[in-house]
Amino acid sequence: MVKVNKRMKSAEHLSNFESIFKCPICNSSMKVFKLKSLICSNNHTFDFTKQGYINLTTHLVKTKYSKDLFEARRKLIAENGFFKPLSQAIAEIINKHAFKKGTISLIDMGCGEGSHLSNISEIVSSDYNKITTGVGIDLSKEGVLIAAKNYTNKIWAVADLANTPFKDKQFDVILNILSPSNYAEFNRLLKADGLVVKVVPQSGYLKELREVIFDEPVKQSYSNVDTFERFNENFQLVDSSRLCYTVTLDNPAIQTLVQMTPLSWATMEGQVKSFLKANSAQITVDLEILIGKK
Ligand SMILES: C[S@@+](CC[C@H](N)C(=O)[O-])C[C@H]1O[C@@H](n2cnc3c(N)ncnc32)[C@H](O)[C@@H]1O
Ligand SMILES: [Zn+2]
Repeated sequence: MVKVNKRMKSAEHLSNFESIFKCPICNSSMKVFKLKSLICSNNHTFDFTKQGYINLTTHLVKTKYSKDLFEARRKLIAENGFFKPLSQAIAEIINKHAFKKGTISLIDMGCGEGSHLSNISEIVSSDYNKITTGVGIDLSKEGVLIAAKNYTNKIWAVADLANTPFKDKQFDVILNILSPSNYAEFNRLLKADGLVVKVVPQSGYLKELREVIFDEPVKQSYSNVDTFERFNENFQLVDSSRLCYTVTLDNPAIQTLVQMTPLSWATMEGQVKSFLKANSAQITVDLEILIGKK
C-alpha cells in the first residue's frame, strides 16, 4: 500500500481546485499529475515540495525576510494572540459583506507564514458557519514553507502577487495584510461582487518598539495618505475602520516581537538591549482596515 505523505495530501487537496490555476509561463490550464506536480497543457511542470507547498515562480527570488522572522511572527500570532482582534474584525467583515454565500473563496496576497489566513478562515467557519477555501501566496519561500508545515487544508504557493498563477475572477475575498499591493492584479482575480480587505499600519503601530529603535522623530510615524488615495482610485471604498489595541507581552514574547519585525534590521544598539531585558511590555497594535469593491 502506498503511504500518503504530506506532499501527496497537498496535491490531492489542490486537485479539487486545479481549475483556478493558469500556467505562470504560458497561461494555459493546469492539472495535478500523479499527486506529484502541477502541469500545464504545454507540459510546464511545477513539483509539490515535501512540506506540501508549490513554487510557481519562474525565476529564483531572494527576499529580505528570513526563516527566523517568520518563525517569530508565527509564534507571536499563534501563541500570544498578537493579531487576534484583527482576525476577528476581518472575519466579521467577511461575514457581513459575503453573508449570502455558503462557500467563500479567500486568497491572502503576501501571506507570510500563513497565520492570518488560517485564523481568519477558522473564525469564519466556527463563528459564522461558512465553508471557506483558502489560498496563500508569498514571494518568500521561507514564509510559505512555514505556512505549509503548520496549516493543512489550504493551498500554499510561492508566487508574485503582481503576476499570480490564477485565472480571472476566481476569488470572493482578497486579503492583503501589511504587505505590498498590485491593484490591477487584485482586480483581475476578484469576482464581480468580491471584496478586497487591505490592512495598513497606523501611527501607533508598534510605537513602543519604534521609540526604542529610532532616534529621528521622522521615522517614528507612518503616513498612509498615498496608500488611501491609491486604494480609492482602484476600488470603491465601501468601509474603513481603525483597530487599535494593546497586547501585554512577557519577556520571551518581547524577544520574539523584536525578531518578528523588519524594524529590528535598523539597529540592535543600547535602547533595544534594555527593552529586551524588560519583564513585560504593553505593545500597541494600531491598524486601518480598508474594504473595497469593484
Ligand atoms: C510585513 S510582511 C507581512 C506578512 C503577513 N501578511 C503578516 O502580516 O504576517 C510582507 C510580506 O509581503 C511579501 N511580499 C513582498 N513583495 C511580494 C510580492 N511581490 N509578491 C508576494 N509577496 C510579496 C513578503 O515576502 C512578506 O512576507
Ligand atoms: Zn505552460
